Amino acid sequence: MHPTQRPRRNRKSATIRGYCRETHLGREHLVYPLFIHEGSDDQPIASMPGCHRWSPDGLLKEVEAAHHVGVGSIILFPAIDESLKTSRGEESSNPEGLVPNTIRRLKSQWPDLTILTDVALDPYSSDGHDGIVSPEGTILNDETVAVLTEQALCHARAGADIVAPSDMMDGRVSAIRAALDSEGFQDVSILSYTAKYASAFYGPFRDALDSAPRFGDKKTYQMDPANAREALRELRLDEAEGADMVMVKPAGPYLDVIRRIREATTLPVFAYQVSGEYAMLKGACERGWLDESRAVMESLLSIRRAGADVILTYFARQIAESL
Ligand code: PBG
Repeated sequence: MHPTQRPRRNRKSATIRGYCRETHLGREHLVYPLFIHEGSDDQPIASMPGCHRWSPDGLLKEVEAAHHVGVGSIILFPAIDESLKTSRGEESSNPEGLVPNTIRRLKSQWPDLTILTDVALDPYSSDGHDGIVSPEGTILNDETVAVLTEQALCHARAGADIVAPSDMMDGRVSAIRAALDSEGFQDVSILSYTAKYASAFYGPFRDALDSAPRFGDKKTYQMDPANAREALRELRLDEAEGADMVMVKPAGPYLDVIRRIREATTLPVFAYQVSGEYAMLKGACERGWLDESRAVMESLLSIRRAGADVILTYFARQIAESL
């Protein structure tokens, strides 16, 4: 046997493998999601080993450490006290609320830190839904969009660089864009959770924020995991409504969707390696069933290879340390 084509020649040394490497993961591709709360203790999250609900001081230390290893952007997720949750989630636009206060504190310390915020009602909703629930138990689209617009404005006024609506209501990107522009926030970007699936992989996140739906599920607004064409429809709408960046979520189980969105848009594509993906990897690695540094890197490279420009990942600090 004398094959003229021997692909192994291009794998014969680290240098030659380096010539051939098609995908690269750098610090600039990472966004670090962080959970925050009002308390003075840093609370470990049982289903997300290594992640915490940070106190204001704990958060500063964590951001300092992440910033030090080159993580330039973070996204904030607030755990809101039960007593502040209401059916319309009014706390979501309180100018003295946990998120705006945290943004101001971080910006005063690190003006160059890029701060993203999640726009949705679930952390603030006594129903645990991303929108306002009608007496009949349906999620009210247009009423919700009005409240989300206030939330996005609240984050922009506090200094957020990018607002990221994760609620999957129809028409929210154009409504938020119009509201931001009318207040002079032309430079605040919108990262739309374009294809956000009704996924089982958000379980640990909902533990972290105690934000699980109190009844029913999110299937009337989040997408059916069986669908990919529908993601392209959401993409067209988000582009037309003025999204600056688009996101697919979760990431690992939806690499085909990332690829299809990548091919269909010129906008930057984000992917969110969600809490359940993190928990699966951490769980197996803690038991010694997987080699953590290799498995985590492979999971992130795969998301990049599928076409994501940027990845939201709870591994951001850890990976940046190892790069
Ligand atoms: C809320 C939101 C969720 C996540 C990000 N924003 C949960 C949900 O939709 O129920 C999940 C992130 C993760 O699991 O890491 N709108």
